[in-house]
Amino acid sequence: MQKKSELILAIETSCDETAAAVVADGKEIVSSIVSSQVNLHRKFGGVVPELASRKHLELINPLISEVLNAAKVNLAGLSAIAVTVGPGLVGALLIGLSTAKALAYTNRLPLIGVNHLEGHIFANFLEHGDLKPPFICLIVSGGHTTLIFVKDIGEYGILGETLDDAAGEAFDKIAGFLGLGYPGGPIIDDLAKEGNPKAVIFPRAMLHSKDYDFSLSGLKTAVLNYVTRMKNEGEPINVSDLCAGFQAAVIDVLVQKSIRAAKEKNVGKIVLAGGVAANSSLRDEFRVATEKENLRLYHPSLDLCTDNAAMIGCAGYYRFKAGERLSFDAYPDPNLRLGSKILSKVERRMTNERKIDQRRTSNVE
Ligand code: KG4
Ligand code: ZN
Repeated sequence: MQKKSELILAIETSCDETAAAVVADGKEIVSSIVSSQVNLHRKFGGVVPELASRKHLELINPLISEVLNAAKVNLAGLSAIAVTVGPGLVGALLIGLSTAKALAYTNRLPLIGVNHLEGHIFANFLEHGDLKPPFICLIVSGGHTTLIFVKDIGEYGILGETLDDAAGEAFDKIAGFLGLGYPGGPIIDDLAKEGNPKAVIFPRAMLHSKDYDFSLSGLKTAVLNYVTRMKNEGEPINVSDLCAGFQAAVIDVLVQKSIRAAKEKNVGKIVLAGGVAANSSLRDEFRVATEKENLRLYHPSLDLCTDNAAMIGCAGYYRFKAGERLSFDAYPDPNLRLGSKILSKVERRMTNERKIDQRRTSNVE
């Protein structure tokens, strides 16, 4: 007899996408719905946390019903519920986590907590059955720019990260400054296709630094200065060239540092994850560079680069099989680090008390 699939209901509400999915055996998307709040936040030029939470609250229950209907499964037919616990906006996370807790508790289902960043990495496993660690993963999203050595599933060494703006944040801020709209990433991506990336050359910050960190706020200032100077001199600005030049400066550093990390760690694979991994030029430049260096490149399809719940279901499945369960008194953790344990209320209180004690002891000394 064929083994019955294990179905996980996954919930993701860490930022401005309300998402739910049903994933079978951690690898097959049975149904997945992402409801973007982009239109709600557009007029503010960025995500308004309080509005995001309210919208999640309005959407989450109907969305879960819809995703279960589409998968032709009811709550009793599930093996577990997986939910994003952090990092993200605390109020937004709270809606998903509270909903997941209520559904898991009332239906006696295991509750699995998932790190949003781990979810982004796992989006790749959904589509690339052959992908196995070790590999270098570059997460580039609205909130993160992080280079990770994925030694094994759940074993993450953070090699470097942005010291200021995240890549997606830089795209969104530049687009906002140029009055191009929100979110800026896809708009700049499109405009840059018509532009010449060598027409305006912007600095590549930290390209030659020995570490794997990134810095993007200087580039933002360089773009602002360029626009101001051109305006003051009465010169016309070619927006496509400007977008292409900005994008190239971001991508150049990301590509070169990722390749260097793969060589140093002696791994043959580079994996891209997060919303900015949807950028066409970033994908092209990585393809060219990895082919040249004889490395394999993996990235999710466009829909799975940006926030979704299927990736949470995939990461949640591995945690479920490893026997991990989230305590019903767990809080959302807006600053959750990749690889760190998701703490229950009691564990978190104990950790905080320990920190206070340590501080007190070092003050006395
Ligand atoms: O991963 P994601 O959906 O949400 C976070 O976890 O942050 O990433 C959203 C970010 C936004 O900053 C958006 O502008 C950027 O990803 N983005 C892009 C593209 N599509 C989305 N950036 C560059 N090019 C794109 N095509
Ligand atoms: Zn994300």
